[in-house]
Amino acid sequence: MTARPEKIKLVQLGKDDKVPYELLLLADPSKNLVDGYLKQSNIYIARKDNETLGVIVLFPLTPDTVEIKNVAVKPKYQGQGIGSLLIEKAIEAAISNKLKSICIGTANSSVEQLCLYQKLGFEITGLKKNFFTDNYTEPIYENGIRAKHMLVLTRQLNDTL
Ligand code: ACO
Repeated sequence: MTARPEKIKLVQLGKDDKVPYELLLLADPSKNLVDGYLKQSNIYIARKDNETLGVIVLFPLTPDTVEIKNVAVKPKYQGQGIGSLLIEKAIEAAISNKLKSICIGTANSSVEQLCLYQKLGFEITGLKKNFFTDNYTEPIYENGIRAKHMLVLTRQLNDTL
């Protein structure tokens, strides 16, 4: 694990705070889809010296499960552990709230993200076939692969990190 930048604070955005769309759209290029889940979600940002470095969006999927709808880190700060920090905090919050599981969906083409989530204890539990071809107007390519399907990964919360 790369050393994390020091002095990072995680803060919850209030309803009147400015939403960091430039980050959210890195993880989800559809502003319509983002706006569809933001209102019902809790948004946390990683901040250092008043600069927003990353964001995570937590959507209450069921009374027992929260979904990470969006997680993104500013490109120049990626690979320094901030994404892991945001996801670990989301797991801790879900455990404190006595939830049973936390899940996250990502594309078949998101190879690095699939590595990261599995390293953090998430396991593949589902497939939303053609999610990206059905819901996005523009084709999405990553690592030379077309994003077609969404893999759903779940971490059960009966243990700690
Ligand atoms: N093979 C294996 N592991 C890899 C690879 C690879 N090719 N690439 C990255 N990783 C692993 C690294 O090993 C690292 O783990 P380690 O620290 O144990 O070595 C991990 O991925 C990266 O960890 P962090 O530094 O904590 O991640 P980062 O701060 O870069 O945040 C994030 C990850 C949020 C995915 C960031 O890269 C980002 O913003 N990407 C663009 C937006 C995006 O794709 N968001 C997710 C979309 S899905 C969703 O939002 C629900």
